[in-house]
Amino acid sequence: MQDLKGLILSGGTGTRLRPITHTSAKQLVPVANKPVLFYGIEAMATAGIDDVGIIIAPETGEEIKAAAGDGSRFGIRLTYILQDAPLGLAHAVLTAEPFLGDSPFVMYLGDNLLQGGIEDLVAAFRASEPEALILLTPVPDPEQYGVAELSDGAVVRLIEKPSDPKTDLALVGVYMFTPVVHHAARAIRPSGRGELEITDAIQHLVDQGHRVEPHIVRGWWKDTGRLEDMLAANRLVLDTIVGSVDGELIDSRVDGRVVVEPGARLERSAVRGPAIIGAGARLTDCYIGPYTAIGEGCSIENAEVEHSILLAGSVVCDLDGRMESSLLGRNVRIGRDHRQPRAYRFMVGDNSEIGIL
Ligand code: G1P
Repeated sequence: MQDLKGLILSGGTGTRLRPITHTSAKQLVPVANKPVLFYGIEAMATAGIDDVGIIIAPETGEEIKAAAGDGSRFGIRLTYILQDAPLGLAHAVLTAEPFLGDSPFVMYLGDNLLQGGIEDLVAAFRASEPEALILLTPVPDPEQYGVAELSDGAVVRLIEKPSDPKTDLALVGVYMFTPVVHHAARAIRPSGRGELEITDAIQHLVDQGHRVEPHIVRGWWKDTGRLEDMLAANRLVLDTIVGSVDGELIDSRVDGRVVVEPGARLERSAVRGPAIIGAGARLTDCYIGPYTAIGEGCSIENAEVEHSILLAGSVVCDLDGRMESSLLGRNVRIGRDHRQPRAYRFMVGDNSEIGIL
C-alpha cells in the first residue's frame, strides 16, 4: 500500500460549546491543559503519518494555524486547507482532494479523542486493504451520531443521526479510506442538515460493493462537542497522568497524581489529584479537587474548585461555595463584589450559563 496521508478536520462552528467558541475554535479547548486538536496530531505522528492536512474554517483558521504551526514541533509536516463553508465531512474530503491526490488516508475529526491512538488501526488497514475502515463504539445516545448496522460482522447500513436507531453502535470520528471515497463523496446529495455526510459516502461505498471494514473501539472515545464531554475527556486524560511538581509549594499539599507546571506557585493550598496546575498559575488559600485542569497564568484565591477546566488567565476568588463541573474561557473573572449596593454584577457573553447558590 502507498504511504498514508493524514487529514484532520478542524473547521466547524462549535455551537454546542458556546460561549467558549464565540472567540475560540472548539478544537483548541484544552483537555488536561493541551488543545484537543494536538491529541489527534500526536496520534498521527505516533502512527508514522508525517504528511498531514488540516481542514480549517475562515473564522477560526488563523487561530488553528498559530497554535499548531508547520507541524515541526510534532515531527510532521502540516498543510492547511481552507474549507469556505461548513458543508459537511464529505465536502471536507473533496476540498482536500488536491492535497490527498491518490493516497490512502486517515481522517480524524479534530474534536475527537481516542485512547490508545491509531497505530493498531493503521496496521489493520494496511494488512487487510479494505476500501474503508470505520471505527464503532456502543453509546447510550446513538441518535446523536452516525449509527451502523452490522450483519455477520459486515457493515450493511449506516445512517447519520437516525431518530430511531436500530443499534447503539456510533461511528467514531476516525476513518481510513482509499481514494475511491472521492467518487463516493461526489455521488451523494446533501442531507437534511444541508451537509455532504461522510456517513452517506461510506454507505455509498457499501452499496457499490466495496469492502468497508468495521472495528469496534476497545478503549474510550470522546467527541468533545459538549461541556459534559469536555469534562469527561478531561477526567479520562487526567486519569493517565503521572504526577510531577515543578512549581513552588509554600505551606501547601498535593495528594495523589498532581502536575504542577514550572512557575506555578501554591500558598496555603491543597490540591487533590488527578489534577494539573498550569505554568505561572497562582493558588492562594484554596482547595483544588480531583479532575481539575487549571490553565496557564490562572489565579485562584480563597476558593474551592473541583472537576473543572479553566482556560489561561482566568481568575476566581472569594467564593462561599465550591465551584464544580465548570468550564471557564480565557481571562474570565469570578469573584465577590464588595461594592454598594450589594448586588450580583455580571458581564457575560452570549449563550453563557451561570449557576448561583
Ligand atoms: C460527526 C459525524 C458522525 C459521527 C460524529 C463523531 O458528527 O457526522 O457520523 O458519529 O461526528 O464525533 P457531527 O460532530 O458533525 O455532529
